[in-house]
Amino acid sequence: GSGTLKDAATDFSVGMITRASYINGGGQHTALLKQEFNNLSSEYEMKMNIMYPSEDTYDFSAGDVIVAFAQENDMNVHGHALIWHNATPSWVEDFTGTDAEFEAMVEDYITTTMNHFKGKVRSWDVVNEAIADDNGNALRGSIFKDRMGDDYVRKCFQFARNADPDALLFYNDYNFASSASKRAAIFNLIDGLGDLIDGAGAQMHISYNGPAASEIQAVVNGTVSRNLLMHFSELDIRTNPEKDEAVMELSSARGAQQQAKFKEVVQIYNAIPIDNKFALTVWGLRDNESWLLEFHGVPDWPLLFDENYDKKLGYIGFLEGL
Ligand code: XIL
Repeated sequence: GSGTLKDAATDFSVGMITRASYINGGGQHTALLKQEFNNLSSEYEMKMNIMYPSEDTYDFSAGDVIVAFAQENDMNVHGHALIWHNATPSWVEDFTGTDAEFEAMVEDYITTTMNHFKGKVRSWDVVNEAIADDNGNALRGSIFKDRMGDDYVRKCFQFARNADPDALLFYNDYNFASSASKRAAIFNLIDGLGDLIDGAGAQMHISYNGPAASEIQAVVNGTVSRNLLMHFSELDIRTNPEKDEAVMELSSARGAQQQAKFKEVVQIYNAIPIDNKFALTVWGLRDNESWLLEFHGVPDWPLLFDENYDKKLGYIGFLEGL
């Protein structure tokens, strides 16, 4: 094809998220996935609350739909995410057994899940968002920390490595660029994992006006200096971080600024040494599908395509960065 994102990015994957319902719906949605992207993640259906909804019951059905589509269309799959405090099923939050039983349950979950997808999912976010934004960027409080101790992250990576030694294992977090103190805490956590980790995921939920290129570059530099793969894992660029009310006017005025920011981010990613390149994943296809609308409760236009599946200026910016 000519001028598609995946063709323009010659030495890294261009990722998108999806849902089983989008795959099953077909039409323009799946046509665009096939045309532009060569890495796929599940938006929420490969998280613990969906895959392990009750004790002894696994449900990989939605993930299987996404993985089968990816395989049919020569796309890699990045598994997102095994352990995340925000997607923990209530039976796990309320686990009644001993700490040892809890840890055995987590090992079984990671092992069973990775075995199910073995050979089909190239890489996994093993733990997502373990570092707090406040409290000196300490380990975030969670049932996993309570039950398994402060080295629960290392334990989960060990379980994952044992389950599928061929899978690439990532730690994933946000505010990796915008907060120097959180960045230091994330790299400190990563350093404690030694050979159990293969890559760092920087979510990249950012805005048209920040973080600065130098802050994004600091994430890359820290990752490259540790000889890890770099995943820009959840890129979206808010045009309305001020939660302005004059939204239609703002949408058009901000288009060019958003284009410039997409270009900047892609330029930084593209300049990474080839051995550290992995994938740049955009967190949503059309503006109207973005999680940010609900999360912030205001209109925004954070993605590459509008609700009619038409390319935005941001798409041009992405290509300009390559
Ligand atoms: C979000 C999804 O987009 C939503 O559909 C879901 O309801 C909640 O999770 N950081 C992450 C992602 O690591 O998993 C989140 O995705 C967005 C923030």
